[in-house]
Amino acid sequence: SNPSLLILPGDGIGPEVMAEVRKIISWFGDKRGLEFDVSEDLVGGAAYDAHGTPLTDETMEKAQEVDAVLLGAVGGPKYDNLDFSVKPERGLLRLRKEMDLYSNLRPAQCFDALADFSSLKKDIVAGLDIMIIRELTSGIYFGEPRGIIKEGNERVGINTQRYTESEIARVARSAFELARKRGNKVCSMEKANVMESGILWRDVVQEVHDAEYPDVELSHMYADAGAMQLVRAPKQFDVIVTDNLFGDLLSDAAAMLTGSLGMLPSASLGAPMANGRPKALYEPVHGSAPDIAGQAKANPCACILSFAMALRYSFDQGEEATRLEKAVEAVLADGVRTADLMQADGVDPATTSQMGDAVIAKLDAS
Ligand code: NAI
Ligand code: MG
Repeated sequence: SNPSLLILPGDGIGPEVMAEVRKIISWFGDKRGLEFDVSEDLVGGAAYDAHGTPLTDETMEKAQEVDAVLLGAVGGPKYDNLDFSVKPERGLLRLRKEMDLYSNLRPAQCFDALADFSSLKKDIVAGLDIMIIRELTSGIYFGEPRGIIKEGNERVGINTQRYTESEIARVARSAFELARKRGNKVCSMEKANVMESGILWRDVVQEVHDAEYPDVELSHMYADAGAMQLVRAPKQFDVIVTDNLFGDLLSDAAAMLTGSLGMLPSASLGAPMANGRPKALYEPVHGSAPDIAGQAKANPCACILSFAMALRYSFDQGEEATRLEKAVEAVLADGVRTADLMQADGVDPATTSQMGDAVIAKLDAS
């Protein structure tokens, strides 16, 4: 049977960018014989409006069954005053939690045509293609004990960094598997010099490497030194694997190496399913952008590139993923730009659907 894909467009610009991805999915069916069983459902505010909950049990079940979930974005001012338990982002959090998506993939890829958008010098970022893997379900954001307690006559804020061997091993495996599909190189980052959890992290990553992935090149770096290297010479890296806290910071910093939020895809992966593929949720890094929603201004590339990640990591279609990424790159090289990618006024920006159509034209020519 065909691989299955659940599409959750969500709110704001979510449905607008997803419409372009649907065109591209059709293109792969028509022109490359790559058929998917696509189903579509509501999430976030859209699901709340229809069902009074940001994610129904039926949608949750479907998400557990499919090969991959592709999500647009959730949220918007209309829902800002809802009760916490039914806020749009609870839908997304429930998906991540119940699918146990512990491995968060944030690529930082710099297309030559956009190198001027980087916060760094062009020659440092041109051609950059790295992947940061952040552990997403454990670490200091979840560890117990936590809280604000009274000690004598002052308050103390407490969080606990806690990692089990198995939590480290599974995200390490995810990094090594990915490295084999890319440049075959992993750099693990922690603070083993000052943290016990860092010592364990380094040991377990090394053990998993030696036992299961000796073919992958592995190095270790203190996370603070890693932050320096990331802005000094980011092209030295291929895959970086790190914990929840350091990954939060390092992936946001890496995102700015490449420019616009409208270009950044992501994936969250969980344990391998019966078919050997990981549970997976793909989504652009950006949100629902209420300031431009409904105006045909949204850049669909982040969502298109999220689908490219699904092709590569859920559907074993690495070559087709590259074909799609190259099409996006070619469109940018032609100077086609949505408004978020324009530095000066003068030229009319491309609309969301013009950008999608331009990508299809490049696919046709590929
Ligand atoms: P945002 O990412 O939606 O927008 C930030 C800025 O970037 C805005 O000026 C927006 O117009 C621009 N932008 C974002 N994506 C773009 C695209 N594809 N093309 C062109 N311009 C783009 O973040 P913001 O404004 O902080 O949040 C808006 C809503 O989205 C909130 O309700 C927030 O909770 C939600 N949100 C949802 C996320 C998700 O679904 N994963 C992630 C982040 C925020
Ligand atoms: Mg962050």
